[in-house]
Amino acid sequence: MAHDTHDTHDTRDDKLTVAVLGPGGIGGLLAGLLARAGHRVICLAGEETAEALRTSGIRVRSGVFGDFTARVEADTELRTPVDVCLVAVKHTALDTALDRVPPAALGEALLVPFLNGVEHPAALRARYRADLVAPAVIRVESTRVAPGEIEHGSPFAEIDLTGDGVAKERLVSLAEVLGAAGPTTRVLPDETATLWAKMSFLAPFALLTTRYGVPLGEVRTARRDELTALVEETAAISRAAGGPADPAQALARYDAFPPQTKSSMQRDAETGRPLELDAIGGALLRAAERSGVPAPVTERLVRELRAAGH
Ligand SMILES: NC(=O)c1ccc[n+]([C@@H]2O[C@H](COP(=O)([O-])OP(=O)(O)OC[C@H]3O[C@@H](n4cnc5c(N)ncnc54)[C@H](OP(=O)(O)O)[C@@H]3O)[C@@H](O)[C@H]2O)c1
Repeated sequence: MAHDTHDTHDTRDDKLTVAVLGPGGIGGLLAGLLARAGHRVICLAGEETAEALRTSGIRVRSGVFGDFTARVEADTELRTPVDVCLVAVKHTALDTALDRVPPAALGEALLVPFLNGVEHPAALRARYRADLVAPAVIRVESTRVAPGEIEHGSPFAEIDLTGDGVAKERLVSLAEVLGAAGPTTRVLPDETATLWAKMSFLAPFALLTTRYGVPLGEVRTARRDELTALVEETAAISRAAGGPADPAQALARYDAFPPQTKSSMQRDAETGRPLELDAIGGALLRAAERSGVPAPVTERLVRELRAAGH
């Protein structure tokens, strides 16, 4: 266990024991990369997925990190002391999945959620020690195509690690481990700003592509006014919540993406899976209401998506 060392020697002592709750697109990629780097990885999943991982390991296909198979351990519940527990389930599964991580089993381990959204850190802090919850934001496109089979499609994988009240040296140490395993990782000081930066970019993209069932290219041309209005609305909500607000930069980033880009919410809708609509659109509306910022575009889109059965 090495969470308090900065040594870079390649000895067993430098290696962490890492639990990964939800070995899907994100969790599976990180579990595979960390296991390949020599860390002990214990994936926490349902019995069937755990069995598949024990038998075949995690197979990653990635243009950036290469194609490889990594052996991992797998269990249905955390029963072993770990240094870190990564949480990478969807928001819709979070409550149930956390039953696999009893607070006593977590001990002094950092709990690092990779979920999109802004409300899950408070939910985790209500259940676990607040100073151990270190939220991360990840920019990547990675898909679990079958249990233990991960396709990392984006030419990048970047992590921002943060955590108000979490010991800085533990964040730095974990960032070094993650960075050495693959994803470019930095530690950012302001948790609210970090989470809202991602939310401000993601929410307009996810809500509009999913509502209209078209890729980003069509949203930014055929629905430019609506996109602009939603980006400005989201920026105002973010600013009121203590986050960044730069609508022009958000629009410029959308414009730089390939036109066929789809959001993961849209892909979930296409495959009939539950959407993280409440964690994105719902959370945006709750934040708007708390601060008294008008959110008519968000309100309508969330209402229409819910009316469509999502
Ligand atoms: N994928 C991306 O490119 C990406 C990028 C940025 C952010 N994110 C965010 O990262 C989070 C995770 O997304 P994802 O795409 O990685 O999701 P995902 O591919 O659907 O993976 C979720 C994993 O959670 C597991 N799971 C579900 N219920 C569980 C339970 N009760 N106990 C244990 N494991 C459970 C699933 O197990 P099974 O394998 O058995 O189904 C699956 O392996 C989301 O908040 C998403 O918005 C994703």
